[in-house]
Amino acid sequence: MKRTKIRAALEAAGPMDEIVVMGWVRTKRDSKGFSFVELNDGSTLLNIQVVIDHTPEIESVLDRVGTGAAVQISGELVESPGKGQKWEIRGRTIEVFGEADQETFPLQKKRHSDEFLRTIAHLRPRTNKFGAMFRIRSELAQAIHKFFADKGFFYVHTPIVTGSDCEGAGEMFRVTSLEPGADASPDKDFFGKPAQLTVSGQLSAEMFALSLGEVYTFGPTFRAENSNTPRHVAEFWMIEPEMAFADLADDMDLGEEMIKFLITHILDHCPNDVELFAKWVDKGLMLTLENVLQDSFARLPYTEAIDILNKAGKSFEYPVEWGMDLQTEHERFLCEEQFKKPVYVHDYPKSIKPFYMRVNDDGRTVAAMDCLVPRIGELIGGSQREERLDVLLGRMGEMGLSEEDYWWYLDSRRFGSAPHAGFGMGFERMLMLVTGVTNIRDVIPFPRTPNSLEF
Ligand code: 4AD
Ligand code: MG
Repeated sequence: MKRTKIRAALEAAGPMDEIVVMGWVRTKRDSKGFSFVELNDGSTLLNIQVVIDHTPEIESVLDRVGTGAAVQISGELVESPGKGQKWEIRGRTIEVFGEADQETFPLQKKRHSDEFLRTIAHLRPRTNKFGAMFRIRSELAQAIHKFFADKGFFYVHTPIVTGSDCEGAGEMFRVTSLEPGADASPDKDFFGKPAQLTVSGQLSAEMFALSLGEVYTFGPTFRAENSNTPRHVAEFWMIEPEMAFADLADDMDLGEEMIKFLITHILDHCPNDVELFAKWVDKGLMLTLENVLQDSFARLPYTEAIDILNKAGKSFEYPVEWGMDLQTEHERFLCEEQFKKPVYVHDYPKSIKPFYMRVNDDGRTVAAMDCLVPRIGELIGGSQREERLDVLLGRMGEMGLSEEDYWWYLDSRRFGSAPHAGFGMGFERMLMLVTGVTNIRDVIPFPRTPNSLEF
């Protein structure tokens, strides 16, 4: 089918005698002798206006056209006399692909709440807001690949099904080929041992960093953590770079450069869609983004962060003491009130971090970093990795991890071990930052959360 996308039509260099557009009707208004149709095909936030004169035949087709119907319109692209748009279409023919019953179509022309739209996640991309969201999401994914490709990083596809728990937090979804009720002993199962959905591609990415130098993985990750918050989903996408011959400072540099690159890219490539969010979702969005771009991120040792929080004179829900993990309220205080820009907190207590992080000389902290950003809290979590075999084995012993399970991981420390570092960025959280959307359920097409698996 020969069609012009509405985005291209609206950007046309001159009028066109013949144009065919296809899309979904946003509104139709009938006047005496002609009708206006606002048409959207998803290629851009903007609708194209079609003016179509009534003939008996056209009128009988227009009777079947309401909000939500899919149609094809042919006509002429002419300069629009109306304000706001340069071009409109003088329609000659209209055909209906699929009608939408006006009594039951859930997306009538009014503003719907996010809560309601979540119940129709299959239709919400047809709204302005979610159309814009998912165009930005696509662009952001492409920008990530561009960022790493330009820097010479290799893209590694790490496995989704795994036998190891990278984070050691026990938040894994089991994968099994066994029928419910069958003998569930692991040797009867597909892999002959317990299998899970990955929580992170890091351990595999480390193997490739210690071979190809600089790599990243970008794929779905899964966590069976029962936390019903606006920042957690059970299935999310993570970007995980890993660099050989790099330390914690290099790791923080890369994260900062990446965040700034991604924001700049989206502002340049999705101006209309971002403007929608700045106008209707978060009036402070542009200021927040400029703020992230302008200045270098603060870098703050965990011990100092605890000090600042203790002296803040605020009553936090979770009391602050050295050794605790920072909660979202603490993270947001640091970047929103104390520093008013993104903050790296680094060198966390060893006791609250996974086995693979490099132990510092003080023996009680590790070379870990979290990047905290306004409105969200933790956007990135990463570390320099423990490259010393003896120290790593000691840590694994302390944490009750078996050497046999990690024999392949330990091989990388036995043969040509080298300093290396990496991090994980939550893709959805990055999208929350660039759009100002406060609930993670609204940045992912079909969110996976406890007790919800509708779509
Ligand atoms: O801090 P996390 O758990 O780090 C890791 O998994 C490391 N293995 C990554 C690495 O070093 N290669 O997760 C990294 C990021 C978090 O900072 C957060 O942005 C995001 O992943 N994240 C989630 N996003 C949405 N829903 C969840 N349940 C998330 N859990 C983590
Ligand atoms: Mg973390």
